[in-house]
Amino acid sequence: MEFQIFLPTKVFFGKGDLSKIKEIKNFLGKRALIVTGQKSTKVSGSLSNLINYLKEVDVNFVLFDKVIPNPDTKIVIEGGEKYIENDCTSIIAIGGGSSIDAAKAIGIYAVNREIAPFLTGEKVLKNKIPTLVAIPTTSGTGSEVTKFAVITYENKKLAITSELIIPDFAILDPLLTLTMNEKIVRDTGLDALSHALEGLFSIGSTPFSDIFGYESIKIIYKYLPRSFSSSEDLEAREMMHLASMYAGIQISHSGTGIVHAMGYPLTLRYEFPHGYSNALLMPYVFKFELPNVYEKMAKVIEVLDLSTGDKYKDAEKLIELLVNLNKMMNVPLSLKDLGVEKNELEIFADEVDKNERLKKISPRAPNYDEILSIYKNAYLGVL
Ligand SMILES: [Fe+2]
Repeated sequence: MEFQIFLPTKVFFGKGDLSKIKEIKNFLGKRALIVTGQKSTKVSGSLSNLINYLKEVDVNFVLFDKVIPNPDTKIVIEGGEKYIENDCTSIIAIGGGSSIDAAKAIGIYAVNREIAPFLTGEKVLKNKIPTLVAIPTTSGTGSEVTKFAVITYENKKLAITSELIIPDFAILDPLLTLTMNEKIVRDTGLDALSHALEGLFSIGSTPFSDIFGYESIKIIYKYLPRSFSSSEDLEAREMMHLASMYAGIQISHSGTGIVHAMGYPLTLRYEFPHGYSNALLMPYVFKFELPNVYEKMAKVIEVLDLSTGDKYKDAEKLIELLVNLNKMMNVPLSLKDLGVEKNELEIFADEVDKNERLKKISPRAPNYDEILSIYKNAYLGVL
């Protein structure tokens, strides 16, 4: 057994903990760049609450509120230039995974004055980004504790993976998640589930990352349906915020896998939310991976207290359970139902085939034909 643990983020978790930003003012320096999306943190009031707290302790800030879903390098450069022009010294990201990932990339740009070569792998990061505070307002990405930033470049979702971009602080205030609507709860919650499961099955998984995976799945199984059906169920929202962070800690050590690789082209081409694409694909990918990871799949069923005692049957039960969860939350069974064009599957498969980063940690690395056949099964809804 050999593994490493790296958890450099100071996490504040608790209802009302947005105010903890005041406690870390000395880490923010002369001026903070606030990175957020165009709308939701304004409508929910979380951005103005954050700003009020910063004013209370005399922290200067500049606002960059142009992050869109699946942020691209153009947005990153714009934010990075704003950071440089205003002599900022730290970054506060508030919003969903897109805002936090964009903030990590803005941090990279601020230090290096370029971003694309780090996404393509042409260059490797050598310097830590400025102090970064991540304040998630959705429960799914886990980006507040991970070493990943996923950014769109030349119509592909590419990831920078580096311990130099892990946020220094994460503020997880469950009250900020109460304004998520049903769809966002579902799409982000199912992303967290895809992290927990792919993280467990990844060949990069460790005894440490697995603890977070099993615990996260237990919480999601119990609380995601509750969080989905009621925006007033604060306990469920709080637990989902916790599960999402747990899965973030997990994948920052284990990586994800083919579900993520196969979901990216769907998200870019059809604008399906990331977690929604993953949710639809999970049963088909896991069916393919089952012969290599059925013991871990069975352990998930055991952790959920649903074991039949037969490991292979239990692994198949996990796939059934995912299909049922999708049904319960109105995720269609097939790509055909979503209006995906069949003739595009080959283009998607080709792209996944080139994703060496995620292929190499898959428990059963598929070749091009196998990827295409998983897509075809998902297209037809054949398990
Ligand atoms: Fe994800």
